[in-house]
Amino acid sequence: MITLILAFIAFTATTNAQIITWLSSCPDVQLKANFDRTKYLGQWYDMEHFPAYFQKGRCSSAHYSMRDDGRIKVNNTQIMPDGTSDSVIGYLQKNAINNEPACLEVRFSEWQPRGYYLVLDTDYVNYSVVYSCTNLYVGKFELLWILSRRRTLAVGYLEHIHDLLDSYGIDTTRIEVEYCDSGELGYCHQSSKFFNC
Ligand SMILES: *[C@@H]1O[C@H](CO)[C@@H](O)[C@H](O)[C@H]1NC(C)=O
Ligand SMILES: *[C@@H]1O[C@H](CO)[C@@H](O)[C@H](O)[C@H]1NC(C)=O
Repeated sequence: MITLILAFIAFTATTNAQIITWLSSCPDVQLKANFDRTKYLGQWYDMEHFPAYFQKGRCSSAHYSMRDDGRIKVNNTQIMPDGTSDSVIGYLQKNAINNEPACLEVRFSEWQPRGYYLVLDTDYVNYSVVYSCTNLYVGKFELLWILSRRRTLAVGYLEHIHDLLDSYGIDTTRIEVEYCDSGELGYCHQSSKFFNC
């Protein structure tokens, strides 16, 4: 137990931009019922998220396509602070323990542990809400992405999604809006409530 706590403290010290909540455990969430992975494939743009140490750039997007082995290829792209484009390739697969089709795992290399990729809600054509939470015995580590099929997302969807997250006790005050101004790739929220454009 002591080793675990020390490992956890070391982890939090090296990764400052993370949502870690001490003495708290992961909430019970409902996943998207009858999740259809085929309808989910294609391009998604990051609108809002929890800070993550591996997401240092801006204008992030994800592209999902089917692989021959039945896993889903993930291509995450972002524009780095120096202006270059950076892509990381990984895959999504079904979680072996949980039966629900929306309970997925994502992996970017054989050396990296699998991370949960839970689809809380999506309508496949406008928005998706992806959540990941790991219990670390003395706290929890959370990731969240609100994705859109376009470079904008209508405020009605954002409100629906924030209400859903609030209902699970997921702290929406810690959400960051993905920065990508209209001069760059041309996306922003459609309401000044979330983003001024
Ligand atoms: C990933 O996506 C980027 C941006 O669309 C593209 O330039 C790159 O070729 C893709 N990489 C792979 C391996 O599919
Ligand atoms: C949702 O997506 C559909 C299909 O692309 C589109 O016709 C519709 O305008 C979108 N709704 C909003 C409010 O953006």
